[in-house]
Amino acid sequence: MTDLTTRTAARPVTRCRTCRADDWQDVVSFGSVPLANGFLDPAAAYPDEPRYPLGVVSCRSCRLLSLTHVVDPEILYRDYAYVTSGSDTMVRHMRGVAETCRRRFGLAPGDFVVEIGSNTGQQLAAFQDTGARVLGVDPARNLAAVADAAGVPTLPEFFSAGTARQVARDFGRADLVLGRHVFAHIDDISGVVSGLRELLTPDGVFAVEVPYALDLVERLEFDTIYHEHLSYFLIRPLCALFERHGMRVFDIERLPVHGGSILVFAGFADGPWPVRPVVSELLRLEESAGLYGDAAYRDFARQVERTRDGLRSLVRGLVAAGERVAGYGASAKGTTLLNICGLGSAELEFCSDTTDLKQGKVLPGTHVPVRSPQAAAQDPPDCYLLLAWNYADEILRKESAFLDSGGTFILPVPEPSIVAA
Ligand code: TYD
Repeated sequence: MTDLTTRTAARPVTRCRTCRADDWQDVVSFGSVPLANGFLDPAAAYPDEPRYPLGVVSCRSCRLLSLTHVVDPEILYRDYAYVTSGSDTMVRHMRGVAETCRRRFGLAPGDFVVEIGSNTGQQLAAFQDTGARVLGVDPARNLAAVADAAGVPTLPEFFSAGTARQVARDFGRADLVLGRHVFAHIDDISGVVSGLRELLTPDGVFAVEVPYALDLVERLEFDTIYHEHLSYFLIRPLCALFERHGMRVFDIERLPVHGGSILVFAGFADGPWPVRPVVSELLRLEESAGLYGDAAYRDFARQVERTRDGLRSLVRGLVAAGERVAGYGASAKGTTLLNICGLGSAELEFCSDTTDLKQGKVLPGTHVPVRSPQAAAQDPPDCYLLLAWNYADEILRKESAFLDSGGTFILPVPEPSIVAA
């Protein structure tokens, strides 16, 4: 493994990773923040906890939103606590993605599907159910081993042009390459897209699912801004990126997952896929929402400030009035929200989470202890701050007994609100 002491832990972004321009508008800056998935052992030496600058800039040329700094991926991903959710919502969604690809591109049994950032292999297992031959690529060695054991062959590597060549040589060319919620995590996306030329068949499809920056801005999802998410994509910067590599976006689906996402389909410019009208419709929508100019991002920054202050006073007010408050769902966005808002163990007794790897640890930065839902249910708080708000419907349904017994939930964004039975 690379010796981290010889690497730069966080480096400032220079050129836009989609269009290569270097004219940035400052959007927000949250100071120095710990890593969102940097869960700690309770006995860890907290004074040494690493923090890195967290801020967002917008490219005035293509309007990619980018973090100001890139943290070394060896630090972020080699031992990773993020496990693809086994929630009903996600399982349904992953089956839907496999079904969409089968239907739209005529993906047939025996066709070869490669997933970048395949985590524990759940999405690829859904493709296996449709008869596809699959291969995962994921740098988290702990997760690649889990996927392998579950019957989803996985290379424990970062995906790059070199990996693309290796996969094509050892396993053949892919009919579909999929990247779900991974593209925003990769600095050299240009390298990834150039690798597709060596990996995809001539009529192959690259399907990339990312959170949609239009939803982020309109719904004030500022807690999805953390070190792992280097880019926040509109359609326009994605088109710019693919065009630079002889590819084009030909279809897009808007999806409700993770606070609003887009599944973008790209193929080679000389390939068989006609460009659907949805592509120009969404470009027009982005323009009419003002997202190609500075003013929308100045407004966004002002609103983030308001929500942040509002949430802090709401939670502190409840605690001052004697209520017991806890977090629900130790999501990466949740740990970020707490750190950005200055809320922590003075306000939250604990945070409940279903993930084995997180239970028994403490949250990064705030050091709030993580408990299993079973332990939490034995001594429930008066109020849960919903840190996994992307599963609000599912969680509120599941927790109807807590609500019926007088418990409440705080939904943090777009503005803090209280849900009671
Ligand atoms: P996730 O949605 O994966 O978001 P992020 O990308 O911000 O980490 O995180 C959701 C977290 O919430 C995950 O740790 C699992 C947890 N969770 C629960 O504790 N209970 C639930 O019912 C659900 C759906 C999720």
